[in-house]
Amino acid sequence: MPSVVLIGAQWGDEGKGKVTDVLAEKADIVVRYQGGNNAGHTVVVGEEEFKLHLIPSGILYPDKTCIIGNGVVIDPAVLLEELEYLAARGINTNNLRISLRAHIIMPYHKKLDEVIEESKGDAKIGTTKRGIGPAYMDKAARVGIRFVDLLDRDEFSLLLDRNLKEKNNLLAKVYAADGFNKDTIMKEYMGYADLLRKYAADTSIIIYDALKAGKNVLFEGAQGTLLDLDHGTYPYVTSSHPIAGAACVGAGLGPTEITKVLGIIKAYTTRVGEGPFPTELLDETGLHLRDKGHEYGTTTGRPRRCGWFDAVIARYTVRVSGLTSMAVTKLDVLTGMDTLKICTGYRRGNEIIRDFPASLKTLAGCEPVYEEMPGWHDDITSAKAFADLPAAAQNYLNRLSELAGTPISIIGVGTRRTQTIIMDSLF
Ligand code: IMP
Repeated sequence: MPSVVLIGAQWGDEGKGKVTDVLAEKADIVVRYQGGNNAGHTVVVGEEEFKLHLIPSGILYPDKTCIIGNGVVIDPAVLLEELEYLAARGINTNNLRISLRAHIIMPYHKKLDEVIEESKGDAKIGTTKRGIGPAYMDKAARVGIRFVDLLDRDEFSLLLDRNLKEKNNLLAKVYAADGFNKDTIMKEYMGYADLLRKYAADTSIIIYDALKAGKNVLFEGAQGTLLDLDHGTYPYVTSSHPIAGAACVGAGLGPTEITKVLGIIKAYTTRVGEGPFPTELLDETGLHLRDKGHEYGTTTGRPRRCGWFDAVIARYTVRVSGLTSMAVTKLDVLTGMDTLKICTGYRRGNEIIRDFPASLKTLAGCEPVYEEMPGWHDDITSAKAFADLPAAAQNYLNRLSELAGTPISIIGVGTRRTQTIIMDSLF
């Protein structure tokens, strides 16, 4: 049975939540493997809209096991809030399992995220200020606190002592900010431990056993390729790895267990936060896409920067994540535009660049090379098959696929579960 990794192919916010929700129907297990509550997924079921940050979107189906893998950083307060939010809306969360190896976001991580950003002035990253970067910094520095430690009072107390000594010093001496009191954190976090203990598991074993038993496993990526710590627009990236390879590290399984990789790509491009964005539209068209596509962050509410589809990025994602197909989302947002532009390469002086550059200076000096295609005006929101789409929409999709170098398996034509054209359901 296949295991499918689903990733964001651009700068995040590609509509992964909805596609995960659609694919989850055939999955037995849905796994989050990186990031934290910097992510925000919106899923519309019938008349109801659900906003999730940490818990895999598969939770909306009663019979799926949902896993928060070791590669995720967890803010326990946010996780508990999300559990309460789901319970209040009648969603059963008993099938959630949390990796004992996942790292915990602490109050000082959030504070550090804030003061580090402030201290950067114009060079700020534009983080979500959820403590994600500082939590991954501690993980790499080997001073992080894991879920298994949170569940062990003595171990937690010891690690907290060591961390507070360093963090309170850092906050006071480098950032002139207030530090944290150990007893307050102990009380708060031991309360979280009591409430979360029942979800703890060695989740790699659950996934491995399920795959060996022929079950379907879906790995739900957060953020997107260009926010990847290694492959994104560094330093304007997140602190984890949104590319597909991270599913192995962040869930605890080998690369030979992955059969398909689906890249979720919007029919146009958006980005939140700072950093270069070659196809950005700073005009009426950009505002139109923002308005029509409701391009405001699920997590921070920030308006997203909008631009045309960039095939340089699509080709890059196909390469670094090994996409076997793509899901093109929000095609309906382009309805009503006379002409659509697709960026096929970048011009820098006399040079045409075909591969996404490593240097941000190079990227900032790039002018997109566009080809134009006719748009369509017919409503496509009730299309059930590729053949139902107007010829111009079909041509647009065929061209995206040709330029990216991978087939399209899913097309999003509206926000609802049912407004999805599935050419290949992957499982
Ligand atoms: P951080 O992940 O909060 O450290 O933020 C680093 C960068 O990643 C910022 O530009 C954020 O706007 C961006 N980012 C983080 N999570 C998401 C997401 O889920 N969607 C889009 N951008 C994100």
